[in-house]
Amino acid sequence: MTTAPRDDIRFLLGDEERRLRGIDPQMTVLNYLRLQERKCGTKEGCAEGDCGACTVVLGEADGKGGLHYRTVNACIQFLPTLDGKQVLTVEHLKSPDGSLHPVQQAMVDTHGSQCGFCTPGFVMSLYQMWLDGGTDDRGAINDALAGNLCRCTGYGPIIEAARKAGGIAASDPVEHHRRMAIADRLARLTSDKAMLAIEHPAGRFFTPKTADQLAQLLVTHPDATVLAGGTDVGLWVTKHLRRLDPVIYLGDVADLKTVAMVGDDLHIGAGATYSAAHDALGHLSPDLGELVRRIGSRQIRNAGTVGGNIANGSPIGDMPPALIALGARLVLRMGDVRREIPLQDFFIAYGKQDRAKGEFVEKVIVPKPANATQFRAYKISKRFDQDITAVLGAFAITLENGVVADLRVTFGGMAATPMRARQCEDALRGKPWNTANLEAARQALARDFTPMSDMRASKEYRTLVAQNLLTRLYFETTSPGVATRLVGAEAMAHA
Ligand SMILES: Cc1cc2nc3c(=O)[nH]c(=O)nc-3n(C[C@H](O)[C@H](O)[C@H](O)COP(=O)(O)OP(=O)(O)OC[C@H]3O[C@@H](n4cnc5c(N)ncnc54)[C@H](O)[C@@H]3O)c2cc1C
Ligand code: FES
Ligand code: FES
Repeated sequence: MTTAPRDDIRFLLGDEERRLRGIDPQMTVLNYLRLQERKCGTKEGCAEGDCGACTVVLGEADGKGGLHYRTVNACIQFLPTLDGKQVLTVEHLKSPDGSLHPVQQAMVDTHGSQCGFCTPGFVMSLYQMWLDGGTDDRGAINDALAGNLCRCTGYGPIIEAARKAGGIAASDPVEHHRRMAIADRLARLTSDKAMLAIEHPAGRFFTPKTADQLAQLLVTHPDATVLAGGTDVGLWVTKHLRRLDPVIYLGDVADLKTVAMVGDDLHIGAGATYSAAHDALGHLSPDLGELVRRIGSRQIRNAGTVGGNIANGSPIGDMPPALIALGARLVLRMGDVRREIPLQDFFIAYGKQDRAKGEFVEKVIVPKPANATQFRAYKISKRFDQDITAVLGAFAITLENGVVADLRVTFGGMAATPMRARQCEDALRGKPWNTANLEAARQALARDFTPMSDMRASKEYRTLVAQNLLTRLYFETTSPGVATRLVGAEAMAHA
């Protein structure tokens, strides 16, 4: 029996229960916190997911009776996406007796704040690290803080605060009990397991719970905007001031969140976030894991999905070139009808994908590279962390006795869509992998693409860097140890 939909958004704000009705469903979590709750600790810096001043922590059931926490950018999340979750802001950290939380105290002790505008966001990222048990590792701290920008304190004292604050073990009996109690409250709050169907003059908003419900809703509303992590869609509202009607949110569809190996293929449901898919992708290939780690920030990866990165059809999305090089396939669904296509065929032209109205991306299937195949993905951007790609080269190469037995070369940022470099591939397939053929392939690569100049890179730079990435592939696959030296040089360049 299907449960009737409801129209009140239920969640915990700290320890307090909220049931909201009659609110514009495209109100951001940030605006709700600041304007309705007057919890103004959470700040607005950019309203586009870049600066981290709006960072909040979300707690949600982990499916095992416990609670899973993650940071997100409140400025690009819509209020109904809180349904069934706990939201924690900087106001919730102080104890009832007024004493500061260990991460706040560590910020005070290390002089981690000057103007303080960025501070609540940093504190929430530090709090997430504390909830995860804390770490001393500089790389892990950098990674957790890369989505928080500070213009005046500088990062040294804040990194020191991360080290000083330490963390709490999830197995700590008091903490374990606290998390179980919150998980229990959340389960009771949404025990009806009903989807939200909000009808508001500003727009309608639906949160299906199953893929079947989602499919049915999209057949009924073929012009609806599908919302996954909102790291693109959120900006349409906050920056482009668009009104969306209706919106169908797939973040609550449990059967789209699976990430699982089926034989030699990795199946990634369209609702799986980057954070959820990271380990499995890194297991397929270390370069794939590193590529995911460099997408946006921790907050963006905790919300954004691999499916959304494909569906938006951007020529500079990071996942499509890598997944095309690996021979990924896409499963699209309309109603009860599914079709499976090679991912490369999904991208038809700029802004045009092979997706009919009412159809949605259900999952992407990524084959495990054969043992003899080497995979590399190189992302070139102006900044190492939290930056959009200028050029991305992805290569899957199979060498047999020094000859290129098979090769798939795909680039992002070089054309109107992510695209295979066919002439480059043809120049190498079946040929010895040597410098003469490398040079011929570099020339072929220049014929494959006519890139454009924009604020990220000139067309000349793009062509040269694409050729140089091919050369990098050559050195990494022919000279043992060169990869380590190149990575070391890159790390120094960014130090
Ligand atoms: C600060 C910041 C940094 C970023 N950095 C990077 C980066 O380094 N690399 C990168 O590639 N991208 C980056 N992005 C872009 C964005 O995070 C990614 O494109 C992300 O994968 C989008 O996924 P999402 O789940 O948030 O999609 P959403 O924003 O929810 O949706 C994106 C588009 O896909 C459609 N859609 C989503 N899911 C489906 C589905 N299952 N079926 C049909 N249509 C669907 C939506 O309707 C929309 O058109 C960044 C964004 C921000 C704000
Ligand atoms: S306000 Fe800058 S990331 Fe949200
Ligand atoms: S303390 Fe001023 S921006 Fe960080």
